[in-house]
Amino acid sequence: MTPRKVIAVVGATGAQGGGLFRAILSDPPGGFTARALTRNINSDKAQALASRGADVVDADIDNVESLKSAFEGAYGAYCVTFFWAHFSPERELAEATAMAEAAKHAGVKHVIWSTFEDTRRWVPLDDERMPTLKGKYKVPHFDGKGEANGVFTKLGLPVTFLLTSFYWDNFIYFGMGPTKGPDGRLAITLPIGDKKLPGIAAEDIGKCAYGIFKRGREFIGKTVGIAGEQLTGAQMAAGFTRALGRDVVYNDVPPEAYRKFGFPGADDLGNMFQFKRDFQEVYCSARSVDFSRALNPALQDFNAWLAANKSRIPLNS
Ligand SMILES: NC(=O)c1ccc[n+]([C@@H]2O[C@H](COP(=O)([O-])OP(=O)(O)OC[C@H]3O[C@@H](n4cnc5c(N)ncnc54)[C@H](OP(=O)(O)O)[C@@H]3O)[C@@H](O)[C@H]2O)c1
Repeated sequence: MTPRKVIAVVGATGAQGGGLFRAILSDPPGGFTARALTRNINSDKAQALASRGADVVDADIDNVESLKSAFEGAYGAYCVTFFWAHFSPERELAEATAMAEAAKHAGVKHVIWSTFEDTRRWVPLDDERMPTLKGKYKVPHFDGKGEANGVFTKLGLPVTFLLTSFYWDNFIYFGMGPTKGPDGRLAITLPIGDKKLPGIAAEDIGKCAYGIFKRGREFIGKTVGIAGEQLTGAQMAAGFTRALGRDVVYNDVPPEAYRKFGFPGADDLGNMFQFKRDFQEVYCSARSVDFSRALNPALQDFNAWLAANKSRIPLNS
């Protein structure tokens, strides 16, 4: 019997890595098995993964030696950083470097790096359409990841650069769901004008990543982008209205206003949405829904995601 190929999954107790972990374990004939990386093998989440028969190992992406052990003997590695845990693009770059060095050391055959565009390619720092943040970024949580692409390339790793999309799960967990405005109506607030926002069920990112690993060498050295559907704010509001059975409207605000909303990272997200709005063609064309469905035939569109998740969306009314 051919031994199963091990895929070491960073963030396996979280959204992206969790989806990949579940995709691998749900497909025993696929020839792969998952090794979950966690900072605490005794946590309830880690124990839940272990109870499914998977290998669960200690590793921290801030500790290259722990990553070297965790990647040892693995065929593949799914690499992701956690910007919102520390808000530092420099730390993301250091963490990506640690993962790349560990993958090189372990001789991993296929790395997927979960990344984004370095928006400074389209919006140089002296472009005054949006403010420069943290001294040298336009969209810090994008630019640091994009800058880190070069680390994987420089080390000559067999890497696929995976451009992900806005999680619809943000409507549940990130405080972006419909809220009641002064007029008493529920509204989703996004600074994207009438432009389309590529979105995806977070769970589908891992399923698409699994599709990439299953295709063998096909996407090594390539950049691929994924989305479940590309919708305008008005279309998403209409989806909410149908799913919730209550009127939800789209509240279009200028990015300048969004940046001042005051929550941590509002300036970063304001710039991010402005980038997606002002460079819609570039951003949307990099994320094909048809391609994502070819990787993952179970890909959800927004209505399917809403049908499965509407009861989990907090409504302040
Ligand atoms: N929100 C969006 O719309 C969106 C869309 C696309 C991409 N992203 C990007 O997605 C990234 C986050 O991925 P995610 O949503 O999958 O994260 P997540 O759900 O927050 O998962 C975090 C998991 O990663 C593990 N982790 C955290 N810090 C770690 C460390 N230092 N070393 C090892 N493991 C660590 C934790 O597991 P343990 O506690 O078990 O160690 C945790 O369960 C961010 O960088 C963000 O920019 C977000």
